[in-house]
Amino acid sequence: MTAQLIDGKMIAQQVRDEVAATVAKRTAAGKQKPTLATVLVGDRPDSQAYVKSKGKACEELGMGSVSHHLPAETSQEELEKLIKSLNDDKTINGILVQLPLPSHLNEERVLQLISIEKDVDGFSPINIGRLAQKGREPLFVPCTPYGCIYLLEKSGVKIEGANAVVLGRSNIVGMPAALLLIGKNATVTVCHSRTQDLPGTVRRADILIAAIGKTEMVRGDWIKPGAAIIDVGINSVPDATKKSGHRLVGDVNFNEAKEVAGFITPVPGGVGPMTIAMLMKNTLRAAEIQDK
Ligand code: GUN
Repeated sequence: MTAQLIDGKMIAQQVRDEVAATVAKRTAAGKQKPTLATVLVGDRPDSQAYVKSKGKACEELGMGSVSHHLPAETSQEELEKLIKSLNDDKTINGILVQLPLPSHLNEERVLQLISIEKDVDGFSPINIGRLAQKGREPLFVPCTPYGCIYLLEKSGVKIEGANAVVLGRSNIVGMPAALLLIGKNATVTVCHSRTQDLPGTVRRADILIAAIGKTEMVRGDWIKPGAAIIDVGINSVPDATKKSGHRLVGDVNFNEAKEVAGFITPVPGGVGPMTIAMLMKNTLRAAEIQDK
């Protein structure tokens, strides 16, 4: 192995420890606990697990959490009514609507309703719009891309002037990750299902953020020697040697890539733990903004 492993689990724990220490100081000073409201509509098992971990993290860091679990058939009107009541509720600092919503609900209308001061996911059009504009600052940066950039910076990877390639253009990861990299003066190429010569494009990347959801798609010979690889993929593959019968792998073939790259995140234990750590950081920030 030539690449330096970027230990997301350890870096996420450092972020969590810092957040917990600040929360403890605030609480000792008599301030209200930073409190996150999560909203889950429907019964997707993956979304239920994510929301549960977010609530658990709040508890572990001395923060409050309130979870709203609505049935899959909830109407747009009912969901909007809940968001409005959370916007008005002074005991709630952050609001997170777990995505995807069931298909009959209008995600855009829901996200734009969240007060920007409570938009800890950074998905409201105002926060994303500011991220996309020069000289403007969003109040909150979406958690997974924020975690990707944090890992690069903590590992000493130079972003300014680098050729960065982002695989995937989702609203949750690819697009905001590309905007963040541009804001840090990288030269950014965003690839997607219709990109021609994907291997050739990836080969020019000093920094690769892979968020395309395709099992081990990026091969070792696609990677520029010394590149920094941030693998956002979480794909389950059958593995008879595991008790569960499966294991998780990324969008990058780790065993091949680690022999060529300069830095690489593992799956699991890379970007995954960062998403919740950055959400906790954003929730604390929301409480600080609302103090003022
Ligand atoms: N679904 C997948 N990732 C996320 C996330 O970071 N936030 C929300 N709200 N939903 C998601």
